[in-house]
Amino acid sequence: MKKAFITGITGQDGSYLTEFLLNKGYEVHGLIRRSSSFNTDRINHLYRDFHTPDTKLFLHYGDLSVSGQLMDLLHSIQPSEIYHLGAQSHVRVSFDIPEYTGDVTGLGTLRILEAIRKTGIKTRFYQASSSEMFGAAPPPQNEKTIFQPRSPYAAAKVYAYHIVQNYRDAYGLFAANGILFNHESPRRGETFVTRKITRAATQIKLGLKDKVYLGNLEAKRDWGFAGDFVEAMWLMLQQDKADDFVIATGETHSVREFTQKVFSKLDLDYKKYVFIDPRYFRPTEVDVLLGDASKAKNTLNWSPKLTLDGLIDMMIENDLELARREKTLVDAGFSCNNNEHPV
Ligand code: NAP
Ligand code: GDD
Repeated sequence: MKKAFITGITGQDGSYLTEFLLNKGYEVHGLIRRSSSFNTDRINHLYRDFHTPDTKLFLHYGDLSVSGQLMDLLHSIQPSEIYHLGAQSHVRVSFDIPEYTGDVTGLGTLRILEAIRKTGIKTRFYQASSSEMFGAAPPPQNEKTIFQPRSPYAAAKVYAYHIVQNYRDAYGLFAANGILFNHESPRRGETFVTRKITRAATQIKLGLKDKVYLGNLEAKRDWGFAGDFVEAMWLMLQQDKADDFVIATGETHSVREFTQKVFSKLDLDYKKYVFIDPRYFRPTEVDVLLGDASKAKNTLNWSPKLTLDGLIDMMIENDLELARREKTLVDAGFSCNNNEHPV
């Protein structure tokens, strides 16, 4: 039986990847952080009490900022594949906590690579690289595009990308960079723009809220579905040779277009409800991301399945259901916390 170790298992991608690997018969081990409230919502439907005899999902406490313990975990688990998805992944937040972002998002990758090297385990390594690394580089962006990072997050990911290549060359590790463009889902964190919009629009539709504040509506992103993108991560580790791949849909849309689509699917005019708050602007912005994933199509035989409209419909359906439940609570006299987040 193949064994996978996933950092960031409680995140959006970690949850889809865990589903995907369990369906393929893998035993899955995930790194989780201790937190004062439960942080396993996205994988609760997959988790079985570890006393159950046939359980295939195991969770281990740890943190990407602590190296010794990562080494102990890898040594005891001996995974055949490692998917390194854990990161401080919010671009706007990285301007507020640049040092922490550099430590976890940049050096976190080095700590895992060192743990592989020092334990000597035979494994394949996937690094969650990001289209954010392209930054100011003009579109379309592919594996040959020169990085021009525009945030502490992007700079940390560029460091991680290069250290992965260095460990591949220097020590012969099977280590691949997946350069993924933005991917979304009903499990997307609520402070990323797509989910912020689908949550707010559905709450507005049900009368739970009357406005939402956004930042730069003119930025353009190549948005795909997270469920499609995790398959590409797995494919990269099934190749004969480790390599780096761009994963994208090849379409770009502005935040304004996305907002307009969501509100109009709910028969609402976004201009009546969306307000601009400069707090959500970034000191330096990435204006246009548009990926060219031809290499992944030709080598991995990967292409995205869900369209942007299909993705929006899926997110709206999920968030309408959440809003209905919130409304039931509000109608019964309970409060519903729909305050704006600070970023
Ligand atoms: P996410 O939802 O923000 O999940 C991040 C994960 O990292 C969470 O499980 C989080 O744990 C964990 N984590 C954060 N700090 C940690 C630490 N110090 N120690 C251990 N774990 C830590 O991110 P995502 O959207 O799934 O993205 C997965 C990866 O792909 C990230 O590396 C991201 O930067 C990268 N990426 C994402 C996209 C995208 O569009 N989604 C595109 C390109 C690259 P908690 O649950 O405890 O917070
Ligand atoms: N979050 C957020 N909140 N973004 C807003 C808002 C707002 O209220 N208003 C406008 N935006 C704009 C941002 O300025 C940015 O141009 C765009 O919406 C997308 O922002 P996010 O959804 O936060 O994603 P991101 O592109 O910055 O980063 C995501 O994608 C990267 C891949 O390109 C994250 O998932 C990163 O971890 C990932 O690497």
